[in-house]
Amino acid sequence: MSFVRCVASLALIVVPSVAGDGFQDLKPPAPVADGRIARLAAVDSLDCTPCHREVAEEWATSLHALAWVDELYQEELAEKKKPEGCWGCHVPVPLAGTDLSQKPAPREELREHGVACVSCHLAPDGAILGPFGAETDAHRSVADARFGGAESDALCAACHRTNVGPVLGVAKDFEVTEQARKGRSCVGCHMAPIERPAANTPPGAAPRELPKRAGRSHALQTPRDPSFLARAFELRASSTDGRTRVELLNVSGHRVPGLIGRSLKVTAEVLDADGEVLATRTVEVDSRSFVPVDEALAIELEAVGPKVRLRGLHRDPRLEQPVEFLARELDVAGR
Ligand code: HEC
Ligand code: HEC
Ligand code: HEC
Ligand code: HEC
Ligand code: HEC
Repeated sequence: MSFVRCVASLALIVVPSVAGDGFQDLKPPAPVADGRIARLAAVDSLDCTPCHREVAEEWATSLHALAWVDELYQEELAEKKKPEGCWGCHVPVPLAGTDLSQKPAPREELREHGVACVSCHLAPDGAILGPFGAETDAHRSVADARFGGAESDALCAACHRTNVGPVLGVAKDFEVTEQARKGRSCVGCHMAPIERPAANTPPGAAPRELPKRAGRSHALQTPRDPSFLARAFELRASSTDGRTRVELLNVSGHRVPGLIGRSLKVTAEVLDADGEVLATRTVEVDSRSFVPVDEALAIELEAVGPKVRLRGLHRDPRLEQPVEFLARELDVAGR
């Protein structure tokens, strides 16, 4: 059963916890309606858009596209004496050929494109780097290990490894805990798999059939999507000696929450056979009391019953109201 349906229907069904495979059936997310710019209008002025309409539209709804025009960013920038120190990762030059362990240098031009297509795909010699190296007369394409290959996390880590401003270097957690060795990758969890032609014929050109390829949605999976946030945790409940212990094991690739200003509030209720509440406890985690990767947020309750009901709320300053990401009942083991 998908986590999406489970959350949507507030299912009172016991779903066995899945070990680490909760990221297999990602779907490109619906745009999050939070009152801010939902789609970067400047997508139409990208050179790549006429031939890569679908990818460009996905990207346009992501915070990569919005990284420069983002209100939260612009508000903080306005308070800085030296704002140029804040530009590099938000409007980077093409990263290929640069030292990925250093802060990217900022672009002069087309800042409204934020983390642009060229930032990730353009090589110094003008070639386009990608996962296939498929020949086309549109541009020279070269297969590169940073796109789906052995160096797939290096590109993402270039900007996500450093603590700066409100940002936590989640890629450092990922590296220190050797997530890649477990077969996990940033792209594997944050860019949903999607099969489609990698390009379309541009307007005015004679239509041409292109092969479908195994691509990735550029609409990033974000914790503001409750069905995605729910995947961060594997749930368990057990009891001994008159106490119940609920655990939310962090199976994401880094600490949760992964950004300053976010918090998660989880309420656990021990239920008796009639569904009456025997004990209740609420815990909250924020960026200071975060749940480390592969560790659990534990909730201890002074009662024992056959079931536990869990409710989780996510607070993100980009949304007016906290969003429910967890509404489940679990069987209690070990009684
Ligand atoms: C090393 C790369 C890097 C630099 C330099 C950088 N940022 Fe960012 N910034 C990021 C990343 C990555 C994110 C996204 C973090 C996330 O969503 O977890 C981000 C997101 C933000 C956000 C949105 C936070 C939110 O709550 O949604 C703001 C505001 C911001 N940065 C401000 C700044 C300021 C101010 C500076 C300069 C002091 C700066 N950034 C410099 C990488 C960088
Ligand atoms: C005139 C049309 C056109 C334009 C403009 C264009 N592309 Fe392409 N692109 C294509 C075609 C066609 C393919 C090959 C599709 C296939 O064979 O699957 C392709 C392939 C790609 C690939 C896959 C490379 C690989 O590994 O094989 C990437 C990445 C890409 N383009 C990025 C870009 C970016 C970034 C831009 C803008 C800077 C851009 N393209 C501009 C038509 C275009
Ligand atoms: C050139 C720097 C840069 C690179 C490379 C980069 N990011 Fe980001 N990323 C950012 C910035 C900047 C933001 C946030 C912008 C803001 O909030 O204003 C961000 C935001 C995000 C978010 C948060 C989205 C949301 O809506 O909450 C995710 C997830 C993410 N990036 C994943 C990735 C992945 C996966 C890769 C590798 C394919 C990657 N990033 C590569 C700079 C970068
Ligand atoms: C096993 C899956 C998984 C892997 C691997 C993973 N993430 Fe995440 N990521 C998640 C989940 C789930 C969340 C939501 C939890 C949260 O809010 O912190 C998240 C949240 C984020 C956020 C947004 C934080 C916020 O509050 O806006 C960023 C940025 C991010 N991840 C970047 C990365 C980068 C970069 C990598 C690789 C170095 C990576 N992630 C690897 C699952 C993963
Ligand atoms: C933050 C880095 C980043 C940015 C920005 C980015 N891409 Fe990609 N792109 C990737 C990664 C990573 C993959 C490969 C994922 C995989 O297959 O593992 C990819 C794959 C592709 C592909 C191959 C086909 C597919 O469906 O995945 C095309 C085409 C492409 N990108 C075009 C674009 C265009 C056009 C833009 C701008 C609108 C863009 N990309 C922006 C990182 C990026």
